[in-house]
Amino acid sequence: MPVQALDATLASDPATLSGAPKAPPATLVIFGAGGDLTKRLLMPALYNLAAAKLLDENFAVIGVDRLDGSDDSYRQSQTETISNFVAARSNRGATLDEAAWTWLRGRLSYVQGDLQDPRTYQAIGWRLNEALRERGQANCVFYLAVADRFFGPIIDHLAAENLLREQDKAWRRVVIEKPFGHDLASAKALNARILKVMDEQQVFRIDHFLGKETVQNIMALRFSNGIFEPLWQRDHIDHVQITAAETVGVESRARFYEATGALRDMVPNHMFQLLAMTAMEPPTSFDADAVRSEKSKVIDAIHPLGRAEAVERVVRGQYAPGTLHGQHLRGYREEPGVAPDSGTETYVALKLFIDNWRWAGVPFYIRTGKRTHTRRTEIAIQFKQAPYALFRDTPVERLTPNILTLHLQPQEGASLQFSAKIPGPVVHLGGVRMEFSYADYFGTSNSTGYETLLYDVFTGDNTLFQRADNIEAGWRAVQPVLDAWAEGRGELHPYAAGTAGPTQAERLLVRDGRRWMKLA
Ligand code: BG6
Repeated sequence: MPVQALDATLASDPATLSGAPKAPPATLVIFGAGGDLTKRLLMPALYNLAAAKLLDENFAVIGVDRLDGSDDSYRQSQTETISNFVAARSNRGATLDEAAWTWLRGRLSYVQGDLQDPRTYQAIGWRLNEALRERGQANCVFYLAVADRFFGPIIDHLAAENLLREQDKAWRRVVIEKPFGHDLASAKALNARILKVMDEQQVFRIDHFLGKETVQNIMALRFSNGIFEPLWQRDHIDHVQITAAETVGVESRARFYEATGALRDMVPNHMFQLLAMTAMEPPTSFDADAVRSEKSKVIDAIHPLGRAEAVERVVRGQYAPGTLHGQHLRGYREEPGVAPDSGTETYVALKLFIDNWRWAGVPFYIRTGKRTHTRRTEIAIQFKQAPYALFRDTPVERLTPNILTLHLQPQEGASLQFSAKIPGPVVHLGGVRMEFSYADYFGTSNSTGYETLLYDVFTGDNTLFQRADNIEAGWRAVQPVLDAWAEGRGELHPYAAGTAGPTQAERLLVRDGRRWMKLA
């Protein structure tokens, strides 16, 4: 993550990581080369990096998957991937950069193999030796774009073939997708298995939220402006709301989602990353360990939920049939692959506290759900009410609260809500909003969010990746809730698809005299 100060009016498309030097030479081995993640995000991100001329002449990709295929057929299928990627963005002016794609396409090769078979890893080893002989480079990134049950076995096989050993200044790195474990014990076990065969510096546990420009911008907003930080604490902040609402349902992922649910899928990872960015102390530098230590500390400081709190402060819901824009939406239990009596939650809301000097007593309300009526990811920081003696005749609930909202998606930007006098002879106050939109200043970008993350892996910058302790701190905070649910405590509330979620989630705030931000 290169950090530079630029005049905003001069900055260009962030996808180009403008001004960044080329990444060092490397071979990228993608496990799951024919999978959805590779098609939707990895290959398009590599193409964008190639178009921005950020990949080295000696860069190469080895795709590994179990389906039959050859170098040629792999190049062909990825050409379709990129054509689709560009076509989907044609309304934003995207056109295929033929030169960039030809450049990247010529560097793709394919290894067919079973991920549990040692011969697959021997074949990869030969290809890497070839790269060393032909291009004189032995740096390698192994990208695990596969189901989580393969993480441990792949790492064991790579270690057994001696492919993780760094020697003669050549580095070996492994990128691991989520879900990283399904509870605290399994996350710890996976970390232990990984760290037995490689060093923490070699491990890049990805959380794709951290690839989003607006998520990275939280740190910039907080720490490069003098006006926010003095107010960023319990004396001035009433509460914080973090929302990730999605209109999509479970789609074709029932097998994964049935065993996972909204809490595991979103909270210890994405939502806690947003919480950490919002609540952490300023790191002493942008150095990876400095940033990750601050994040770990704040997640560690989440007040451990007691047995009763794990139920009282948490609401879980599941979408039932509903309508959106006149269209019938089926309920979760009617989705293909979902059990008709499924107890998996598709919505969760939590009230948490952070036990430290900055945040003691300030509630952090978190909610995330599928099949809501609108898509919205945002962080709203609500400031305490001004002393209202001056406006004695205005009922206090009518004074507009000051809310700083960081809009992460789909609109990207920030807005500040405050009160102003409505013109006229009588002093009447009205709520107004000041808005900053990313698109106005920086234009829209065709980046996937993975460009920065991949570039950081090649340059060895772990700042935007989760360290073992970050992951474990997240699971530790939600474990009491998982335990409560496993004991059959905590009711599952149905909510109609196309609404804001279960009404019980409203009550979580109403009983504190607060309200969720409106979703639309
Ligand atoms: C993924 C979850 O990690 O994040 C999905 O598994 C979720 O269930 C997705 O839809 C949300 O990411 P984004 O970038 O679409 O907001």
